[in-house]
Amino acid sequence: MADTTTPNATRTDNPKPVLRPADPRFSCGPVKKYPGWSWDAIADAPLSRTHRAGAPVARIKESIERTHALLELPADYKVALLPGSDTGAMEAAMWSLLGQRGTDVFSWDVFGNRWTYDARDELKLKDLRVFKTEPGILPDVAQYDPARDAIFTLNGTAAGVWVPDLDWIADDREGLTLCDATSAAFAVGIDWSKIDVLTFSWQKCMGGEAQHGMLVMSPRAIERLNTWRPDWPIPGLLQLHANGKANMGVYEGATLNTPSLMAVEDYLAALKWASRIGGLPELIRRREENFAALDAWVQGADWIDYLCETPAHRSPVSVCLKYTDPAVIAAGAEAQWELTKKISSLLERENAALDISMHRASVPGIRIWCGPTVERDDLAALGPWLDWAYREALDAG
Ligand SMILES: Cc1ncc(COP(=O)(O)O)c(C=O)c1O
Repeated sequence: MADTTTPNATRTDNPKPVLRPADPRFSCGPVKKYPGWSWDAIADAPLSRTHRAGAPVARIKESIERTHALLELPADYKVALLPGSDTGAMEAAMWSLLGQRGTDVFSWDVFGNRWTYDARDELKLKDLRVFKTEPGILPDVAQYDPARDAIFTLNGTAAGVWVPDLDWIADDREGLTLCDATSAAFAVGIDWSKIDVLTFSWQKCMGGEAQHGMLVMSPRAIERLNTWRPDWPIPGLLQLHANGKANMGVYEGATLNTPSLMAVEDYLAALKWASRIGGLPELIRRREENFAALDAWVQGADWIDYLCETPAHRSPVSVCLKYTDPAVIAAGAEAQWELTKKISSLLERENAALDISMHRASVPGIRIWCGPTVERDDLAALGPWLDWAYREALDAG
């Protein structure tokens, strides 16, 4: 619940809103922990033990099994815990799987650009097509070719653009689909028949800790490992093979290196919270309700609007907003970044919102997380604070 303890502002022409978000954490990652989280959640972590011992392995296996259940994965899909957060999981998939056929990358935000760089400049894939757009615009997914491997991001966290459906992916494809779902897993429904590889990190929709990545593999992706080993060097941390075949141990909790058992415990606590409240449908419902609360304010705001102009492509998870006032636009990008800085510091000072600046690799503006761990009332209370901070920042010059 938002609280009502905001002291009245001395200025009368721009009074501070009466309601203040009870929790000001709207960062797009790491994101707010689930409601009710406390340090007690990790009190029983099997710390100071080898991660190969019975109890720690059981915890890792439980996190894999609960992930499988909560994501409503088909029974024959596999889940592994990898090092290096989402980036580690995605690069492990790229390094271990690609090169057998042509690859396409659909890129529209900073991380799509990262996978493009990996494919083009590090792996030096010979047969590579890149479909890249500016922030706010989804590439033309109709270019997808089922004969090729395809890499795409489900929700571009820094661009405010998501892929609204996966209908463009052929069921009888020959290539694999590699999906970076860092900020989409647990917040949207996923048609698993279209996905061969999917990666995410704990620090997004589940409000977990960073540095551990999750890898979901379809039977076809496992089959690729069993029949294909690229001839480029693969560091141990990205190695999904063992003795020339798929390393099946990683799907049973035998991690590639030492995980943080504290972070595993924290992730388990988040998974249990999610099951308690009703599983994936309830996580999605919370995200929808959160987005609706913010959207109601955006629709009425006269100084800011969605970066993505196509409503169907607008991310309802990581909401990216750009300035619309012609005077602000005419002032140029650097002045707009300054404005963002001022708005953010005003709101941080008031403890009304933390970490709402747009990602520096995107365009100047505001970015707000609407994932399932955030509360609707806090998002509803945030809008008037944004209006207040904008007016204050403009007045400050
Ligand atoms: C879409 C997307 N992909 C990948 C990443 C990288 O995640 P990590 O830092 O967990 O590796 C992020 C982080 O914000 C992201 O938003």
